[in-house]
This record gives sequence, C-alpha cells and structure tokens, in this order.
Amino acid sequence: MTPRTPRAAITATGLRKSYRDHVVLDGVDLDIPTGTIFSLLGPNGAGKTTMVKILSTLIGADGGRASVLGHDLARDPDAVRAAIGVTGQYSAVDGLLTGEENLMLMARLRRLGRAPARRRTAELLERFDLVDAARKPASTYSGGMRRRLDLAMTLVGDPGLIFLDEPTTGLDPRSRRGMWEIIRDLVAGGVTVFLTTQYLEEADQLADRIAVLDRGRFVAEGTAAELKRRVPGGHVRLRFADRDGLDTAVRTLGGARDDEALALQVPADGGVASLKALLDRVDAAAIAVEELTVHTPDLDDVFLSLTGHTSADTTDTTTHDQQKAVSR
Ligand SMILES: Nc1ncnc2c1ncn2[C@@H]1O[C@H](COP(=O)(O)OP(=O)(O)O)[C@@H](O)[C@H]1O
Ligand SMILES: [Mg+2]
Repeated sequence: MTPRTPRAAITATGLRKSYRDHVVLDGVDLDIPTGTIFSLLGPNGAGKTTMVKILSTLIGADGGRASVLGHDLARDPDAVRAAIGVTGQYSAVDGLLTGEENLMLMARLRRLGRAPARRRTAELLERFDLVDAARKPASTYSGGMRRRLDLAMTLVGDPGLIFLDEPTTGLDPRSRRGMWEIIRDLVAGGVTVFLTTQYLEEADQLADRIAVLDRGRFVAEGTAAELKRRVPGGHVRLRFADRDGLDTAVRTLGGARDDEALALQVPADGGVASLKALLDRVDAAAIAVEELTVHTPDLDDVFLSLTGHTSADTTDTTTHDQQKAVSR
C-alpha cells in the first residue's frame, strides 16, 4: 500500500533545543512542500546537524512539534524513520567493506530479500558511477566516491525525503558539481531534500527555499532571489569616453561618480527590467557608454547583511540582540 503523499513534507513549529544553558535552536518553524529542496544555511555550530537529528528522530527536541511526511515526530517516530533517509555529516560507510558489500548490508538491514537486494545494489552502483570500484574496499575510495556511496546507501530504502547534512563539505569543485547533479536528479524523481550547507553558492544553486540559521533562529527565509533582493549593494557601473559623458550621465542618472576612472556607479537590483530602464535613459540622453558592468549581490552579501558577520566567521562577538536588530 502506498500512503497518500502529504503536500507538506515537513512542518514544524517552535522547535527548541538546548545543551545545558547553550541554546542551539530557539523556536524554529518549518513548512517544506514535497518535491522541493529546502536548504538550511548556516556557519559551523549554527545548529544544522541538531535540526537534522531532531527531524530524523535521532534526538528529541526540548519543545515544539513537527510532522515529517504526515507522521508526527513525537507520536510516530517509527513511521518517520521508515519514510526518510539520512546522510550524515560523518559517513555511514564502512571502510573495510567494499562498495557493493556496504550496499548489500544496507539493503538487508532494510529487510530486502537476497535477490531484490542484489538488484537494488547493482542499480545503485550503476547510477552512482561506482561499478568499477564496486569490489574495492571503501577505504580506498576518494572523498567524492565515498559521498556517492553514502548517498546510494541512503537511497536503498527508497525514501520520500532525504536529509543531506553538508553533503559536499570538503569535496573538490568537480566532485561538488557531481553531487549537485545527483541531488537535482533525486528531486526530479520526486524526492524531497532537506539540505544543510555552509556554502552560500550551494544553496543558491540547488534550493527552492533557503533559511539562514544563526544563533538558534532563522534570520531570513525565502528563495535565493528574495534573499538577494533584501540586500543593498547591487549596482551598475558605467564607464565613459570623456568627462562630458560622465557629467551628462551624472545629471541624468545621479549616482556616485569616479572622476579618475570616468565612471559612474548607479544603484540597481541587477534585474533585466531595471537594467533596460537605465539603458533607455542613457540612450535618450545620447550618452556614449564605453563599458558597463553589473554587480549582483550574492548570498555572501546576504549573510553579511543579515547577520552582521560573514558565514565563515564563527568567532564573531556581535551579541544576539544586535543580530536580531540587523535582521528586522
Ligand atoms: N551532544 C552535544 N552536547 C553539547 N553540545 C552540543 C552537542 N551537540 C551539538 N552541540 C553544540 O550545539 C551547537 C550546534 O551544533 P551543530 O548542530 O552540530 O551545528 P552545525 O551542524 O550547524 O555545525 C554547537 O555549538 C555544538 O557545540
Ligand atoms: Mg553539522
């Protein structure tokens, strides 16, 4: 029997978790539709793994409630566990076993019979480009291969939702891109993905919605585009052939002039419409532009602007109250 797929993959209200007097999650709400990628973005120590552990029933929350694929986390943790897959930050791969043996072991743990377990294993080895390495001990695998095997093991049970806790941390750029392709394929196949990452670019590349976790709270939530729009700093830079051009442009467009470079910096959101409007005004004033560059704020700008510190800066001394002031 296939249970009806609920529209919401995860809903949560007021999730809290502390370790002694250290508040890790300070009342977090979630509403993640099925078939989407949700990215929880935050620096080291932000509470990402804690959130994954709570939602995957590995640890209990101190407060709040959540439901995963229609199952209440507190009342029906077994049903939640049966429906999800978790790829931890620290790999579940056994280095002494071969890739094939790791997958077979997982399949048998999932109570697949011998023949179906073999079929599933062969299928996953193929899909994750591990056929050639299937008979080698996993300890000989590269970082990227290990992550692929880890993810393949997560998929043995055909979960409707997978938690990927920093799936590309420590991978080289090529392996990272490979992992992104795999994640996109998963979602195309109907799986919901809860992805944690420290990489703003990764959330930008993959996520339908992003939540920025900082000191126990979401300091921002939305699509990558929405988050970027909340950040000042996007601009267009125009360079002119001579001072006349610059003077005319300043009178027409305003903005900040750079006399030495014969350039003008005009605030812009980086969108095509506003760029076109700007160029129309330049045209109408018959100004000859030598060069035009567009600076769109990226998610790093967003993080800095929302939290007052960069994503890499975990030793920041800004107080929580200041953080909140920044995010309002
Ligand atoms: N079992 C634990 N006991 C005490 N503190 C913990 C425990 N697990 C995590 N923490 C603390 O909670 C905070 C959040 O940790 P974690 O969820 O692992 O962050 P992230 O995954 O975002 O790096 C960190 O400050 C960490 O030291
Ligand atoms: Mg973590």
